[in-house]
Amino acid sequence: MYKLALVPFLASAMVASPVQNTPSQPDPADFNRVVKPFLKKYCYSCHDDQKAEEGINYAKIKTASDAMKNPRMWRKAAREVAGKKMPPKDSSQPTSKERKAFLDWCDKLPKR
Ligand code: HEC
Repeated sequence: MYKLALVPFLASAMVASPVQNTPSQPDPADFNRVVKPFLKKYCYSCHDDQKAEEGINYAKIKTASDAMKNPRMWRKAAREVAGKKMPPKDSSQPTSKERKAFLDWCDKLPKR
């Protein structure tokens, strides 16, 4: 039972591997499961309707399809998060697991 439960996990890890050459798409369900809570917890305090530092308002992105309309926005976010520039040092920091889950999602967006 325990072993069988790992199979779907391994299968999705393989799909997400960087050696594939078919275009991938982030899973829309993961936007609600991973990306939104991440932004809410670590980014909204400075990037929402109230504040929107640098004109960036993540709170207005409500759904996965909204998010996927603007891959550039996520490439920028991913760059800041990967470089540990955002959230700023004096704000609460994501765990490396949270950071990785967010970056993995961004990574699957179309590269255009
Ligand atoms: C404590 C406030 C604060 C938090 C929290 C915060 N930011 Fe920022 N963010 C800023 C400020 C201020 C700027 C503009 C100045 C700068 O780049 O440091 C900025 C700029 C940015 C930029 C533009 C950088 C550039 O050079 O183009 C991006 C992208 C960004 N933030 C993403 C994020 C993401 C993603 C998160 C959450 C993981 C986040 N920020 C959390 C305050 C914050």
